[in-house]
Amino acid sequence: MIGAKLKVALLYDVWNEDPVATAEKEDDPPTRKARHKKTKKKRKEMTDREEIFEALAKLGHEPSYFELDGRPQSLHSLSRCDADLIFNLTESFDGDDTKEMNVVAYVDLLGIPYTGSGVQASAIAIDKLATKRLWAWAAIPTPAWRELEADTDFGAVAAALGGPVVVKPRSEGSTIGITKVSSNAQGEMAGAYAEASRYDTRVFAEELVTGRELTCAILGHGGAAHALPLVEIRAPQANYDYHSKYFSDQTQYLCPAPLDAALAQQIQSLCVKAYAALGARGWGRIDVMLKPQPGGDQPMLLELNTSPGMTGHSLVPMAARQAGMDFGDLVVRILSEATLEVGP
Ligand SMILES: Nc1ncnc2c1ncn2[C@@H]1O[C@H](COP(=O)(O)OP(=O)(O)O)[C@@H](O)[C@H]1O
Ligand SMILES: [Mg+2]
Repeated sequence: MIGAKLKVALLYDVWNEDPVATAEKEDDPPTRKARHKKTKKKRKEMTDREEIFEALAKLGHEPSYFELDGRPQSLHSLSRCDADLIFNLTESFDGDDTKEMNVVAYVDLLGIPYTGSGVQASAIAIDKLATKRLWAWAAIPTPAWRELEADTDFGAVAAALGGPVVVKPRSEGSTIGITKVSSNAQGEMAGAYAEASRYDTRVFAEELVTGRELTCAILGHGGAAHALPLVEIRAPQANYDYHSKYFSDQTQYLCPAPLDAALAQQIQSLCVKAYAALGARGWGRIDVMLKPQPGGDQPMLLELNTSPGMTGHSLVPMAARQAGMDFGDLVVRILSEATLEVGP
């Protein structure tokens, strides 16, 4: 199928304003939708789609751009799209990240093959609490956690989790709304809870894992899925936050991660199992922390990204290069996984 000349629509989302900034300026609490709007995505999407367009054109395919602008009209136009395949680069609808799965559901109903995970895996992966619950049931190690409410005894939660914690909104990305709390002081936890609550109605505290940070790119579906070489992320002060992710030239990415081969393999098979446990397909990336233990480092899985960065500089293409696949090979590989079948 991929040998033939294909019409590939590069589906992406845009919005015209940044109400977070506006709302903050006006000292007005942002609406739920507004809270999910972020400026960084405009920058990222631009590059993703342009690079994929170029790679596909070079390979003799017929790429085109398809923009979802948050209005129903753009959904209506998509229903008339005559593409053979959709490369799904959307991460939100009208800037709301939690609607990423709705776009997948809509495309699925249109009957056009699309790249990446189906509705169910997309819905679970956007919800870190649901992800952690499923992983825990499948005996996949993930940092211990407790959901927080406004009236939670924060000190007791920190004590139960055994010390420093990370407070996170259930559904966000790019480290937004995440605070590391070094002490179990009620005030510090309350501040972290308030920050995370700006982004989601549900918030949790998770054991802070102090070791090295890795990410594992995965390609494929079910039993045929396989992990690419691991990437180690070394951020300044071991703080891989929004700034060190997108704006720092001090953050180092090492691929393959310099790890003992047996440990690297253990992490990769754990990540494939974790990916399959969520029913993911096509491609994805799992974030992992290593917990230093007397018997050796213990991998702890943080989250699955079903729509990872896909510029030439992103981590999945970096891992693919290490496995001998150039950007065009990777694009074709992701497209070849596109199917009409919804995953488990
Ligand atoms: N439990 C944890 N222990 C240590 N660092 C963490 C932990 N959870 C998150 N982090 C740090 O915060 C970053 C973002 O967390 P993550 O759960 O991947 O959310 P997202 O990337 O969706 O914002 C991670 O890449 C890591 O650097
Ligand atoms: Mg992450």
